[in-house]
Amino acid sequence: MIDSFQFSSLPEIMFGKGKRNALPAAVTAIGNKVLLLTGSSSIHNLGHGEEIILGLKKANVELCHEVIAHEPSPSVVDQIVKKHRGDGVQVVVAVGGGSVMDAGKAISAMIPVEGSIRQYLEGVGEKEHPGTKIPFIAMPTTSGTGSEMTKNAVISEVGEQGFKKSLRHRNFVPELAIIDPEMMLSCPARLTASSGMDAFTQLLESYVSTRANPMTDALALQGLKQIKKYLLRAFLEGEQNLEARSGMALAAMFSGITLAHAGLGLVHGFASSLGGFHDIPHGVVCGSLMAPVFAHTIDNLIDQPDDPAMQKLIIVSKVFADFKYKKEVEYLQAFKEKLIHITNLLEIPRLSEFGFKEEFISKIVENTSHKSHPVILTEEQMSDALKRRI
Ligand SMILES: [Fe+2]
Repeated sequence: MIDSFQFSSLPEIMFGKGKRNALPAAVTAIGNKVLLLTGSSSIHNLGHGEEIILGLKKANVELCHEVIAHEPSPSVVDQIVKKHRGDGVQVVVAVGGGSVMDAGKAISAMIPVEGSIRQYLEGVGEKEHPGTKIPFIAMPTTSGTGSEMTKNAVISEVGEQGFKKSLRHRNFVPELAIIDPEMMLSCPARLTASSGMDAFTQLLESYVSTRANPMTDALALQGLKQIKKYLLRAFLEGEQNLEARSGMALAAMFSGITLAHAGLGLVHGFASSLGGFHDIPHGVVCGSLMAPVFAHTIDNLIDQPDDPAMQKLIIVSKVFADFKYKKEVEYLQAFKEKLIHITNLLEIPRLSEFGFKEEFISKIVENTSHKSHPVILTEEQMSDALKRRI
């Protein structure tokens, strides 16, 4: 029998080559004053950026433009919100990577309420957000976080008292997600690699999560098949391979849906703690720790072949296998090696490149949650996972 489960609402989704052209009509259907958020590289350097601005101007839209240079902090969100509270913005549009999506989601939610975002962040503030917001359209230019599908915005404060926490409400699911793989052709290889590993991690963690359900399982497995087929091709041939970009865009979109409904695992537990204390990009943490965390996960479950997570790890191992093996344990071993191989091929930087040192390990282990990981790793295993990537 199928266990009971729940599935909540998704944004309206426009997916496919050229769908960016639908933006002006989608915006004017809501309002004429737009706050446009983009990443640190000028919108003019962004693939199709000029075209997007021109399209909005042609539709007689009044445009304000703000730049999100890093993973959004409370002060960056507060600053932009303060500037635009009461100026009549009717639509917020985010065109960029995960940081821009999260910033857009947070800003659209904070403009109509009083105070600082800090007061509303889970585990940081005391206030409950009423869910009022300005309509929000998400248009990703990377294939990674899947933030265009979720109801939470991740906000980071880096430092001794650092955190990575969410502003969350079911109303914060974007009204519309426009996912055009042509927008991703200009995404640099390094970012393609780290954001692609984020999507890969999100799919695998939600697939084996203790909170998985039949709908997330179906999407996660399809997403993982896209990752196997297209992640390396998107990294190597990203500028011209629209098929690979399209496959990765689908995988990232699915990963956003599955993480929102099934939760994540220990790699993302590390991403919260590491990302709070140290300025390391989210995708780099995921890309670094995926292989060692899942090697230990497989080792800890190896004697439980009937465990649902183990069954799924066997399925995934077979998806990623380059050869036929006789025994399931051989597939699992090959998958462990494959994860290391993918990490190396994608040239995911080591954590030490961002100043992470061995002496920080115990503090990180202490502050890391397993989230919905299917098995507990010992402190030694957790330390080892970090040590292997210094
Ligand atoms: Fe992630």
